[in-house]
Amino acid sequence: MNHVMKDFAFTTVAEIIVEWAGAARLGAILQPRFSARRVLLVTDAGLVKAGILPPVLHSLQDAGFQVTVYDRVQPDPHERLVREALQVAHDSHCDMVIGLGGGSSLDVAKLVAVLINSEQDLPELYGIGKVIGQRLPLVNIPTTAGTGSEVTNISILTTHDDSKMGIVSPQLYGDLVLLDAQLTLGLPPVHTAAAGIDAMVHAIEAYTGKHKKNPLSDALAREALRLISRHLVTACRDGNNREARENVLLGAMLAGQAFANSPVAAVHALAYPLGARHHIPHGLSNALMLIPVLQFNVSAAAPLYGELAAIIGAKVTGDVANDAQSFIAAMVKIVAATGAPNRLRDVDVPEKDLPLLAHDAMQQTRLLDNNPVTLTEGDALRLYQQAF
Ligand SMILES: NC(=O)c1ccc[n+]([C@@H]2O[C@H](COP(=O)([O-])OP(=O)(O)OC[C@H]3O[C@@H](n4cnc5c(N)ncnc54)[C@H](O)[C@@H]3O)[C@@H](O)[C@H]2O)c1
Ligand SMILES: [Fe+2]
Repeated sequence: MNHVMKDFAFTTVAEIIVEWAGAARLGAILQPRFSARRVLLVTDAGLVKAGILPPVLHSLQDAGFQVTVYDRVQPDPHERLVREALQVAHDSHCDMVIGLGGGSSLDVAKLVAVLINSEQDLPELYGIGKVIGQRLPLVNIPTTAGTGSEVTNISILTTHDDSKMGIVSPQLYGDLVLLDAQLTLGLPPVHTAAAGIDAMVHAIEAYTGKHKKNPLSDALAREALRLISRHLVTACRDGNNREARENVLLGAMLAGQAFANSPVAAVHALAYPLGARHHIPHGLSNALMLIPVLQFNVSAAAPLYGELAAIIGAKVTGDVANDAQSFIAAMVKIVAATGAPNRLRDVDVPEKDLPLLAHDAMQQTRLLDNNPVTLTEGDALRLYQQAF
């Protein structure tokens, strides 16, 4: 058998700082690295309410930065929020953007940094590699441990027709990422669970991706799964546990690096319509669709699921079919232990909407193309019915 290596490329952000309480030192961290001094800080009202901003703002001001705050980002951000944030960016003459928050805030921050000096309009950017030109200096600081957006070249928006669309371009990688797990201590258990499961799905889908999986994305995905499977339930039950928070945040970032290079697939394709149409948080949508999709993919992905089984603490025997089922059973157990709801009916999705969701999911061709098994609209409907 031929074991030569398949060619691959791998990209990520240039600098990553992992520092407990680092956000309170942000000004000192940024000051020697950037010449820009007029910052737009993109965040949401939940973080303002959680009291996360004052130490960050003080440290930036002490280091000589002028800061304008845009705090109106909402989950599953709509295109209109990007336009609004962009207007604030123009009005404040900012020369640098900081995203502070969950995936929603970071995704908006990334696009503001790209669009501010651009002649392109937002809709021109959807798809892969459509962004032209350079962005402003961009720093991302995640406060949920899930999306990995801080290290991806992706922003996801809700469009005018209620679908979720991705913009994928190298300019969306930031210059600097700060992982400060202290910021995640106040994340409520339900968000902690949803975000952590999102990250596990990123790792699994990167590891089983049909086209772009490679030795680096594989190594990152395995380590992400190892860390998150060990620490997520503790982070959900005891939000102040520093060790659990640090490991889940690191794991979520590693999963982000994996799927930025080997993109996600059917779990995400089926999850997006739930977010766009029913406003179910992204991580929770993934949690709801994960198990049916894992079973659906087992015909092609069993050997890979088998490889991942021991990593998440499942019993392995060496028999591929057995080990794959053992992997799925262990994922069912972890999802249940986090306390995430596990049925669409529990989150008020009406059964009559399932055909529309299946129709919407089929529009996610960028993602479905990565799935190890080809998926038809009929398959999508059956998967929603199983999740119902
Ligand atoms: N760009 C990417 O690569 C990528 C990847 C996956 C998902 N996404 C997108 O990210 C979005 C989801 O992001 P998310 O799951 O991180 O959630 P989010 O950013 O939508 O935030 C969810 C809620 O959590 C609150 N919150 C965040 N951090 C907190 C903290 N530390 N303490 C208290 N409250 C806190 C926020 O105020 C908000 O109300 C979706 O739009 C999804 O499509 C992007
Ligand atoms: Fe995701």
